[in-house]
Amino acid sequence: MSERFDGETAIVTGSSKGIGKEIATAFAREGANVVTNSRSDDRAAAAAAEIREDVEGASILAVECDVTEPESVSALVDATVEEFGALDVMVNNAGMTIVDPAEEQSPESWQRVIDVDLSGVFYGSQAAGRRMIERGTGGAVVNVSSMMGRMGLGGRAPYCAAKAGVDNLTRTLAVEWAEHDVHVNALAPGYVHTAITDQSMESAGYTAEEVRNRTPLDRFGTPEEMAECALFLASRNNFVTGEVLTADGGWTAFAWGSRGP
Ligand SMILES: NC(=O)c1ccc[n+]([C@@H]2O[C@H](COP(=O)([O-])OP(=O)(O)OC[C@H]3O[C@@H](n4cnc5c(N)ncnc54)[C@H](OP(=O)(O)O)[C@@H]3O)[C@@H](O)[C@H]2O)c1
Repeated sequence: MSERFDGETAIVTGSSKGIGKEIATAFAREGANVVTNSRSDDRAAAAAAEIREDVEGASILAVECDVTEPESVSALVDATVEEFGALDVMVNNAGMTIVDPAEEQSPESWQRVIDVDLSGVFYGSQAAGRRMIERGTGGAVVNVSSMMGRMGLGGRAPYCAAKAGVDNLTRTLAVEWAEHDVHVNALAPGYVHTAITDQSMESAGYTAEEVRNRTPLDRFGTPEEMAECALFLASRNNFVTGEVLTADGGWTAFAWGSRGP
């Protein structure tokens, strides 16, 4: 049976764990050559080894790269093209947050979150876009944003600002690169159980039960569900570009209070 991404090549930044690792696994299951990435060689290689165990015949390259360094991101794309011959899909997933009251955020923590969550997405998109444009057969960029790109959440000023930036960067690149058939979309997850959520809930002092109660679907999303959305956004058979797909169990649709009469 032919898979959805047979013969294509996909990079997933920040794929040593969490949502990124699941997205990388999903691309491997769908027949793509996959590049895993982390700031650590060992963690990128460990994720690659686990995916090889999970997906028979998976073709995986592990590359260390810090998305805040443009040269490192270019080297990631170069290594990918050298290994697999081309790049079809770039998933800019690497992300982090630092929780602090806005009035106490240091310039360093503000800058770090903006560097990883916004500049990292631009560097990844740019390095991938250059290769896709040069090759001339199109491609797909999927930027992992957050529902917090369109809502305010206390203690996350740089994170919310960065994710809002990712949403509009996505629209802008989609417009610019449409003539090259490079589709650019974003995925905005709601609450998904991973290290980032656990850290975020703990430092902000709210519980998993409170999150579930606020979510119309009454549960957290799963990394597998986010991966399914990423596959859809990376498919170029749907006339979708410049879109921010929110996958939040209804969180942003729900104002407040009762869910029914
Ligand atoms: N979990 C949620 O509920 C949720 C909700 C909305 C949006 N998101 C977004 O989804 C994405 C993934 O989140 P997650 O929950 O899966 O986080 P996670 O479990 O903490 O994983 C984060 C990944 O990013 C990598 N990373 C961090 N900084 C990096 C850098 N400078 N360069 C390269 N890689 C870096 C980490 O790799 P190493 O540490 O090994 O370097 C790790 O693989 C993020 O963009 C996040 O904002 C998550």
